[in-house]
Amino acid sequence: MEINPSKGLQGTLTVAADKSISHRAVILGSIAKGKTIIRNFLNGEDCLSTVDCFREMGIPIEIQGDQVSIEGNGLYGLKAPKSILYTGNSGTTTRLLCGLLAPQRFSSVIDGDASIRKRPMKRVIEPLLKMGGIIYGTNEDYVPITIKGTELEGIEYAMPVASAQLKSAILLAGLYARGKTTVIEPKPSRNHTELMINGFGGSLEVEKNRITVRQADELLCREIAIPGDISSAAFFMVAALIIPNSELRIENVGLNKTRTGIIDVLRTMGASIVIENFMDEIEPSGDLIIRSSSLHGVEIGGELIPRLIDELPVLAVAAAFAEGRTVIRDAGELKIKESDRIYAMESGLKKAGVEVTSAADGMTIEGGRAVRGAEFETWKDHRIAMSMAVLALAAEGKSIIKDSQCIKISYPDFFNTLSDIERR
Ligand code: S3P
Repeated sequence: MEINPSKGLQGTLTVAADKSISHRAVILGSIAKGKTIIRNFLNGEDCLSTVDCFREMGIPIEIQGDQVSIEGNGLYGLKAPKSILYTGNSGTTTRLLCGLLAPQRFSSVIDGDASIRKRPMKRVIEPLLKMGGIIYGTNEDYVPITIKGTELEGIEYAMPVASAQLKSAILLAGLYARGKTTVIEPKPSRNHTELMINGFGGSLEVEKNRITVRQADELLCREIAIPGDISSAAFFMVAALIIPNSELRIENVGLNKTRTGIIDVLRTMGASIVIENFMDEIEPSGDLIIRSSSLHGVEIGGELIPRLIDELPVLAVAAAFAEGRTVIRDAGELKIKESDRIYAMESGLKKAGVEVTSAADGMTIEGGRAVRGAEFETWKDHRIAMSMAVLALAAEGKSIIKDSQCIKISYPDFFNTLSDIERR
């Protein structure tokens, strides 16, 4: 994809539906009793991997545009898959399925693409073994993973990393495990699974950093409307901030507090972001109004990190255009995402002439100097591709984003939306 410097972004848009919530809606709809309808479902490749896995387990799922209808057959209504469950590039599908499949009455094998085969799974396997699960990873830590479904016992588990995928895997297993299952979070991570388990009639309680789910008798089907993904909105937020003459209104963005770290940090950097039409339903949402702003460097670490983990690549772009130094720390998890995002952003920013040094858990960016267009690698990582596209819009001269089709993982319409809001 060739990208030229933008003259400004202007207009009203909606962004791709929330990926995390879309996955969970399919998973819970598939194990609830009756017909679940999902509106504004994300038709990205990752969520379609989740749909394919449940179809493989005998669940009728129909997709018409952005509406999905699922005929759930109850907690034990999944059928033994006839072939390997292929999770593609999706970490959320892979890890959440481990938790869901451990207590089933059949065996299964999970595998994914080359990137998924490199991502650590022991973090999920370990607590499931403690619950009595029979689950084997390749070299203990990787897919292909083989699961022999069996009855599980509830446990209390202090999570060694703040990961919503790990937490969700344990909570899904906990819906089936005898008694109650408690997870203790080191730092708060996205809580969509918790909200949705209760939304489907499960019994889950949260007390500070302790989350307890009880064995369920049955979950009840429902209708769900999914808001826009704040992680996708982040690309347009940063673009509007760093490209002069920009003003965007992004409607119906998910504003769950466990995800809004990006807004907090950008405002600290000097961003003009106004929230309107805030609605506090199961998942809060609202409209964002963003105007071009002069940004300054900031320090990002600690409890903020899980609240903006997927936005750190595009925040690094914002930092390149901000006056002064930005330091990102406590973000070692970035190394084990769809790509090594610390390395990917360091090398991309360096190509653009930005001064950046990396560390094991983050990076330091000296911002406010010239940023040049170049030919950028994506490492087949959708968020790196979109982050470099945002950089390219605000840089001097032409850029090329190689392998930009990986954007379909989370945001198939990214470039169409972008061309709709570009000033001509
Ligand atoms: C996600 C959790 C996060 C995030 C990922 C989606 C989820 O991963 O990076 O894109 O839907 O639960 P971790 O659980 O590995 O932090």
